[in-house]
Parts: sequence; C-alpha cells; structure tokens
Amino acid sequence: MPRQSELIAEDIEQYLERHARKSMLRFITCGSVDDGKSTLIGRMLYESKMLFDDQLTALEKDSRKVGTQGDGLDFALLVDGLAAEREQGITIDVAYRYFTTERRKFVVADTPGHEQYTRNMVTGASTADLAVILVDARKGVLAQTRRHSFLASLLGIRHVVLAVNKLDLVGYSQEVFERISGEYAEFAAEIGLSDVVAIPLSAYVGDNLTERSDNTPWWTGPTLMDHLESVEIEDEAGSGPFRMPVQWVNRPHLDFRGFSGRIVGGAVRVGERVRVLPSGRESTVARIVTMDGDLQEAIAGQSVTITLTDEIDISRGDVLAGADSPPDTADQFEGHVVWMSEHEMLPERPYLCQIGTMTVQARITRPKYKINVNTLEKTATSTLVLNEIGMCNISFDRRVPFDAYTENRETGGFILIDRITNATVGAGMLTHALRRSHNIHWQTVDIDAEARTRLNGHRSQVVWLTGLSGSGKSTIANEVERRLYALGCHTYLLDGDNIRHGLGRDLGFTPADRVENIRRVTEVARLMADAGLIVLASFISPFRAERNAAREAIGEGLFCEVHVDTPLGVAEQRDPKGLYKKARQGVLENFTGVDSPYEAPESPELRIDTTTTSPAEAADQIIEHLRRRRVIA
Ligand code: ADX
Repeated sequence: MPRQSELIAEDIEQYLERHARKSMLRFITCGSVDDGKSTLIGRMLYESKMLFDDQLTALEKDSRKVGTQGDGLDFALLVDGLAAEREQGITIDVAYRYFTTERRKFVVADTPGHEQYTRNMVTGASTADLAVILVDARKGVLAQTRRHSFLASLLGIRHVVLAVNKLDLVGYSQEVFERISGEYAEFAAEIGLSDVVAIPLSAYVGDNLTERSDNTPWWTGPTLMDHLESVEIEDEAGSGPFRMPVQWVNRPHLDFRGFSGRIVGGAVRVGERVRVLPSGRESTVARIVTMDGDLQEAIAGQSVTITLTDEIDISRGDVLAGADSPPDTADQFEGHVVWMSEHEMLPERPYLCQIGTMTVQARITRPKYKINVNTLEKTATSTLVLNEIGMCNISFDRRVPFDAYTENRETGGFILIDRITNATVGAGMLTHALRRSHNIHWQTVDIDAEARTRLNGHRSQVVWLTGLSGSGKSTIANEVERRLYALGCHTYLLDGDNIRHGLGRDLGFTPADRVENIRRVTEVARLMADAGLIVLASFISPFRAERNAAREAIGEGLFCEVHVDTPLGVAEQRDPKGLYKKARQGVLENFTGVDSPYEAPESPELRIDTTTTSPAEAADQIIEHLRRRRVIA
C-alpha cells in the first residue's frame, strides 16, 4: 500500500538500517486513550531509554538531524507532544515513534484515538507486522477491541498481543485475566488471527513491561518487551516472488538506462530473467545499482536501480517481476474497501486509484455487502460511509499487474483519491480478479468514426448542456437540434426527463442515482457520437466529477460543455413544472438547488447567461461554436 505519510519514517528507517543490523519490528498499538495507550507507549520508550541510554542519546541526536523533533524518546516530552497536538487542533494521522533495545529496533505506529480511528489505523497497520491491542482489565473485550482486531486481520497483520492493562485496578486477579484472554482467543480464532499472546499488564505501575512483576506471581509467560523482542516475524514480502513497481526510469547517459524502485517482494539477482508487467516482455538483469555501488543480489525493502540486457519499453508504474512467477494482470476485481471519507462512497464515480506506483482510474460498482466489524455480520448495502468496510467489485480503466493482498500488501493494496479534492477517500485490499475481465474482448470493426464522418458530411460531437432544473436546457437544446436538422446534420437529443422514462427508469435523485444516471447517459452519448451523430445531452448533471468523467470517456475533441447559467432565484421564479414549489414545501426531496447541490462548471466551452440571452441567441452561439470547432462547415 502506498504510504503517503511515511516519507520521514522511511528516511529514518534507512538511516537506522545503516547503523545497526538488528532486526526491525513494526507494530501498531490499538485502543483508546482511556485504555492507557499513551502510558504504555510512553513507558516502553522510557524504559528502553533507561536501559540503553547511551544508544538512545545518540539516536535522539541523529533523529533530530534527519528532520524529526526527536519525539518519543522521552516520556514527558511525548505526552506533552500529544497534548499540544490536541490543543492546537492539529490532526495527525499516525505518529511513528522509534526506539531500540539491545535485540531489536522498533517502529511503533501510534494512532491517536479519535473519531477518525479506522482511517488512521489503516494507514498505520498497512505496514505493521504486529498489533498490540489494549483492553482495560475492568472492561474486558469491547466492541472496539473486536473492531481493531478485525481491521488488523484484514490489513494482513498475523501477530497480535492482547495487552490486558490496568490489572492493578482489579487486584492483579488471575481469574479476570484468564476470562478476558479466553474470550478474546475465541474471537481471534474466528477472524483468522493465528498468533495471539495475552499479557497481564499495568503500564502505569510498570508491571510485566520489561520486567516480570511480583504482583503477578501466577504469570509465567513473557513480559511485553520480551515478547516484542523475540516474536518471530516471517518476512512475507521477502519470501514471496520478486516484485518491484517502477518508480522512475532514469537515463543519465545513453549507455545507462535504469529502472528505479523499491523491491516490495522477494529477491532479484544479476543474470536472472525478469518479466515486465503489464506488457509481458522479458529480459535479463544486467546490473543492480545502488548509492553504495553495485550489488549481486537485492531483497525486499531495498531501493535499487536495475538495468536490463535488452532495450525494452518500461515506464513508471510498470512492475518488474520474476519471469517464472509473474503477477496476473486484470482490470476487474473483487476486494475489501475501507471507506475513509465523510462523504459517502458513490458507486460508479471515477476515483483516482494508486496501486503500487501506478495511478489509474477506478470505479466501485455497487458494494456486495458491508461487514459489521463488531458482529462480523454481512449486510447488503448500496454505499459505504465513513469507517465502513465492504466487499466490492472494483473496475480499473486499464489492466494492472497485481497480487492478492494476502500475498503481497504492496501489489495487492490500493488507495482511492477524490479527483476534485485530492483527499484520500478509501483504502482497499484486492482478493481476486473477476473472470469476466479475461473473457470480454474488444471486437475490431472496419467502419470507423472517420468513415461515418465522410458519409455524413459533418463530424460527430456531444454538446453537453448542464444547469439547474428550469434553466432552459431543453428549450435551447431543442432549438439547436432544429437548426442542425435544417442544415442537414444527423442529430439526436438526449433529454433528462425523457431518458428517465426508460434507460434510467429505476433511478431516483439521490447522489448515487444521479452518478449512475449520468454514467449511463455518457455511455449512450459516446456510442451515438461514435455512430457519427451530433448529440445534444441535456441533463442537470450537477456533479463536476461525472461531467469530467463524461468528457474523458467521450474524448476532449468530441465533447463540449455548455453551462446554461440561470441563477437559482430566476429558475425558481420560472418553475415551469412546479417542482421548486413542491421542493420548498418538502414534498420533493433531493431537489437540485434546494436540498441537493449543483456544482457549476469551472471552465465550460460555453457559458450562457439566460437572464440576458434568449433561447434563439443561445442556439446561435452553440451553432457558431460548432462551426469554430469544425464539427459543421
Ligand atoms: S440528473 O441530476 O440526473 O442529471 P436529470 O437531468 O436526469 O437529473 O433529470 C432532471 C429532471 O427530473 C428535472 O428536469 C426535473 O423535471 C425532474 N426531477 C424530479 N425530481 C427531481 C429532483 N429531486 N431534482 C432534480 N430534478 C428532478
């Protein structure tokens, strides 16, 4: 999964890598402030500082040098830091804290426990090997404990520590500890968490953190730190097949064409055959170049530049893979999606999707079901809202190389970005490709748009009229079509009200239904333009994202957007169908301009101010525009 917020983390990590050859454990702590999460993290950092003061002082200085504030190395500092963040209203997604002991280095992803918890946890957990799940011994396993555990499992974490905290407040009762750990073990087995270790703790007192406590003489298991230092993390990425998404192609001089990126799976050696996806071309590794010189072999986690023995076309976003175990490529998938935006997910809306180093356009078709993370119940749904998790069909605009998320988190994980606001709105985990993506092909035909243009004597075009209800779209479109007809042009008028009697009969006016309405209309308009027609599409089409998607699907040269611009007050005054009146009375819901938004175009090809322009003049302007574009002579 791409890690936007981890750039600094990456730098420090590489820095640490060079200084010590200890193994690294990445973990995440889950629980709310009330469970003693900050106390626990603070304590761990504090204890490790006490134990290995020399190393940490050095580390503290160094981490300042590489650009952090040396945070997390002092208990008081840490707690102050979080308080300050809260006061200043800064929302930090995930704070990465670093500490080291004699045996291991640690990166702990600390996710502040506020409402956005699920979103932050996804960011923190997508790279973690282990999750420390805190419960308050007085409260036991709560809904949130189950939620965090389910998310951890979904995000590919196989190792869990159940930290049964605040044991001092239940008199260090063995019975309480065993009841809680027993209940949790049952749930963990249900969701496929195989390695679960429960540890009785008091982070506040310091029991069983680094030293076994006299307060729990009945406890014979490890201390938390012992366990974190010794737990065996199978290196999933390292043991799988070779994968390297290409970050950039560099050509410093003519005889050196290298492909740079971070290896996210397996290993690669000089002389080995590699395959480039999605093209499928193969070559042999000539050199593995790094800042510190050439390597014979490189493994998962390393950033390298690879040169090949053959000149083949490779660009950013392609994946280099072992020739004998390449990933599949597909454009239709099934996978889990975690929704992370305050705005509900809109099925069929195009979102930007980052998978590996590739950016594609993705649409989520209607989710199959959503999962109640407390009960694991699956229920049917048509959308996902903030923090919900659903199993969805996902469609990309082109084939991409991928692995199942359970095989490789980097080539099987993706994030979704809103195209207008640039905000991350979702994260996903691919489970498998849908077969239909292999079985549907594109049939080539001999008569193309150019041939039809010759026959028609004019080019095709989609004139997309957008504006409020009652703005005058249909009147203008009708007038334009009459003139084109008179000029001998082949035309068709797609009109909102008419289309909704047939093609869109099953759709209403919720945002999701409008997205789907415009998607269908776009497809029809595209086919009609391909058939050689001049199409007049007259729809409120209130959302920028869908109008932009129409422009992209139909193609810049074949599409022009006309904003029929009428102020709401004027449209409401006209109220030709009496709908504004009904909307104001509250008998008509989701009415554009009243209780549903209209996003005006930012740069339409034409803007028609209907308060100063008559329908006839508007039609003139559109015809004139079609002449300028050389659609008609
Ligand atoms: S769109 O939003 O999906 O583009 P479309 O243009 O197809 O809308 O349909 C709009 C027409 O449906 C309006 O001209 C109006 O006559 C009618 N209509 C009925 N209910 C609504 C509503 N809630 N909001 C807007 N238009 C509505």
